[in-house]
Amino acid sequence: MKKLSARRRHPLAAVVVLLFALAVTGGLYAAFAPADTAKADETAQSLAIEEGKKLYSVGCASCHGTGGQGTTDGPSLVGVGAAAVDFQVGTGRMPLQQQGAQAPRKKSIYTQAERDQLAAYIASLGAGPAVPTKDQYSPDGADIAKGGELFRTNCAQCHNFTGKGGALSNGKYAPDLTDVNPKHIYEAMQTGPQNMPSFPDTTMSEKNKKDIIAYLDTVNSSKSESPGGLELGGLGPVSEGLFAWIFGLGALIAVAIWVAAHTAKAKKS
Ligand code: HEC
Ligand code: HEC
Repeated sequence: MKKLSARRRHPLAAVVVLLFALAVTGGLYAAFAPADTAKADETAQSLAIEEGKKLYSVGCASCHGTGGQGTTDGPSLVGVGAAAVDFQVGTGRMPLQQQGAQAPRKKSIYTQAERDQLAAYIASLGAGPAVPTKDQYSPDGADIAKGGELFRTNCAQCHNFTGKGGALSNGKYAPDLTDVNPKHIYEAMQTGPQNMPSFPDTTMSEKNKKDIIAYLDTVNSSKSESPGGLELGGLGPVSEGLFAWIFGLGALIAVAIWVAAHTAKAKKS
């Protein structure tokens, strides 16, 4: 009895009790409060995956396999990530209607909410790039000139100098980028659909992707209406050179023929 009361009066006793109380409160908080929000997120997420799985079974499983493992009619989707799904379904490329050289752009048959569910399901099969946030793809505040430079070195060889698109081999083509929304441009760079290389953050930073989006936004908006003259399809020096050859040379030949015809006439008379 004496020992106990002695210990109770120990100068450190109060501190020990306080620390113990703090630890318990902290522990209880950690155990309950965040778990609640985490659980709510988790339920919403698993609901989205559930719904996505249903949509997937109806619209995609015939080609991509019941668990996304792929079949002879479509590649495996394990690890392609939410960004690839949002891009492919958002631009109407998927579901594919018929096999061809390249899946064409069409009107999307799914709502954004359904695309998010499909994306959640496919992301649950294996980790891959997530759908970018508005902050990531919005052209606001980006460096347009830098974007133009990056576009010319990384994209123009296929998509043309002003993004008007161009043909590739075997019936494939790099599409016109005039009406592509910023989110899909970002996702195309992240995921590299079909014959397009991908540009992950390690080779092209988030900021540089934004610069390119801002450049395309500028060349495609009315802000940059043609300064005048014939645009010649915005194809750059090749079409301009061709134009000069065909019309310039054509005009010279016409003059030569005219002169020849007239000298012949002059000789006869
Ligand atoms: C008729 C068969 C078919 C159907 C149906 C179909 N796909 Fe595809 N899918 C393909 C083929 C073939 C490719 C690869 C070639 C291409 O991209 O055109 C592909 C490619 C993809 C890719 C790109 C994969 C990558 O490596 O980046 C995604 C994502 C995708 N499909 C998702 C879907 C989703 C989601 C659905 C359902 C809404 C769907 N597909 C329905 C045949 C199909
Ligand atoms: C080797 C050629 C090549 C290069 C380089 C290339 N692309 Fe592509 N790009 C393609 C092809 C091919 C497609 C069509 C893929 C498909 O339909 O699935 C495409 C599709 C796209 C699309 C989707 C357009 C749409 O209609 O939905 C965007 C956006 C895009 N590219 C942007 C870029 C940007 C930005 C760069 C440079 C950072 C780039 N590409 C570099 C070949 C290329």
